[in-house]
Amino acid sequence: MTGPRSLWHETSPLIEVDTTLPARADVVVVGAGIAGLSTAAQLARAGRSVAVLEARDVGAVATGNTTAKLSLLQGSTFSGIRSHAGDDALEAYVAANRAGQEWVRGELDGEGIDQRDAFTYATTEEGDRGIEQELEALAAVGLDVDVLGAGQDHGLPYPVTRAIRMRGQWQIHPMRLLAKLAASVRDHGGSVVTGTRVLGADITDDGALVTTSRGPVLADQVVVTSGFPVIDKAGFFARLKPSRSLVGAYRVPGEVPSGMYLSLDPQSRSLRTAEGLLVVGGPAWTTGRERETDRMLRELDAWTAAAFPGATRELWWAAQDYQTVTHVPFYGAVSDRIYAATGFNKWGMTNGAAAALTIAGEILGTPVPWDLSPHVKLRDGAEFVSAQAGVAASAVTGIVRAVAGSGALAEGEGRVTRDGLHPVAESQVDGVTCRVSGVCTHMGGILQWNRAERSWDCPLHASRFAPDGTVLEGPATEPLEQR
Ligand SMILES: Cc1cc2nc3c(=O)[nH]c(=O)nc-3n(C[C@H](O)[C@H](O)[C@H](O)COP(=O)(O)OP(=O)(O)OC[C@H]3O[C@@H](n4cnc5c(N)ncnc54)[C@H](O)[C@@H]3O)c2cc1C
Ligand code: FES
Repeated sequence: MTGPRSLWHETSPLIEVDTTLPARADVVVVGAGIAGLSTAAQLARAGRSVAVLEARDVGAVATGNTTAKLSLLQGSTFSGIRSHAGDDALEAYVAANRAGQEWVRGELDGEGIDQRDAFTYATTEEGDRGIEQELEALAAVGLDVDVLGAGQDHGLPYPVTRAIRMRGQWQIHPMRLLAKLAASVRDHGGSVVTGTRVLGADITDDGALVTTSRGPVLADQVVVTSGFPVIDKAGFFARLKPSRSLVGAYRVPGEVPSGMYLSLDPQSRSLRTAEGLLVVGGPAWTTGRERETDRMLRELDAWTAAAFPGATRELWWAAQDYQTVTHVPFYGAVSDRIYAATGFNKWGMTNGAAAALTIAGEILGTPVPWDLSPHVKLRDGAEFVSAQAGVAASAVTGIVRAVAGSGALAEGEGRVTRDGLHPVAESQVDGVTCRVSGVCTHMGGILQWNRAERSWDCPLHASRFAPDGTVLEGPATEPLEQR
């Protein structure tokens, strides 16, 4: 099986970045995804000195591995927000997302963006109930949609029970957007420094002192747009729910549907086209709780071949995103000088830009007209935090998971064994054997092997590590120890 690589990275323009770490900036932005670069571009254009510090490369995590629909029709998101947070929250959410959509459209200005109709559809009774709830939520905020019955033309080659259509939405090439934003930051005197992991920040009399893998940077403000926030001294974000999913890009003989689709069935599927291929989003799981991700990829291939006969996969990849307790994303101040944006719940093309408008507006003293903050819930009380601590303690003493197997490992396999009391994560990838600690460096979760992606994934807050222990994503900032 070839390794993951997204269509967007495969067809990305070259993105120029900086190598020098500045000693000082008005604002440090942590992470070069859509939320970070959109915030940085707005602040740089307003004359602030901005340093974007990125642990890996531009777009390395969610934004470069998304499906990139820039849509106000968002599956079951509106009914989810309505039932968890109410109509006022939904209204604020729609205002923010509408503004985010407009902003991205303006930034791309016709390049790397196509107008398409968006569809939310069902093929099962359960999916159809979801359609009903979403229609009620869309009506509550007065959004204009069409309802298509079983016989009406939705453009899919298989039967559906019902579909919602919103005309005139957009699909984008996310790396082209990031390339433009990074160039804009640099054109306005800011810097985008890659290969620099932020480890923490301390508030001092002079400002926020950001510690990184390459040295300190002093800033007036810090904007944390690292997906799961890596700076979270108060434990606010411990209750974010991660969801990781697979995406495949298929060459399909003959006609492919031109719209953007998302089904509300128990086995949800997402469809769009890009670069002459059909992009199919498929099985999802909670990060770190699924070993047989290779089986899920085969399922995605089988589903696509059945729905689009003759389809052959050219690329595949996976990504994760986070949901808050109330399904309302968080963007704003978390403490003196520190802002964060997260919880986009797989709709970050609009929410990432809306977060940037919100946070840049707060920093520049030009507040936005929506306010999501009263509707977000970032944790569920003290019980959860102590439960986490309990898991961490039991993990380290080896109570949580027993030793899994012994003997030589097959190629592409990983397992957690024990060295004395300490769990050890062993893997065999491309003929190389690695032995690293099996305990996550964030809060001590025992890691799970992810067979398709060949990574060590944490079931607690979704940190992920390469076989050699390098941090890939999530709240962990330190690599796994070599054993
Ligand atoms: C499978 C899938 C499909 C999706 N499809 C859509 C869609 O069709 N439409 C839509 O609107 N949304 C979609 N989304 C959601 C969207 O992709 C995300 O919400 C969005 O990309 C998140 O952007 P971000 O900037 O917050 O995070 P990211 O793009 O993940 O950026 C965070 C950056 O921070 C960096 N970082 C992390 N830790 C550190 C550190 N310690 N120091 C420095 N840098 C650090 C990371 O390396 C990363 O580059 C999808 C998500 C998934 C998972
Ligand atoms: S313990 Fe938090 S991500 Fe692993």
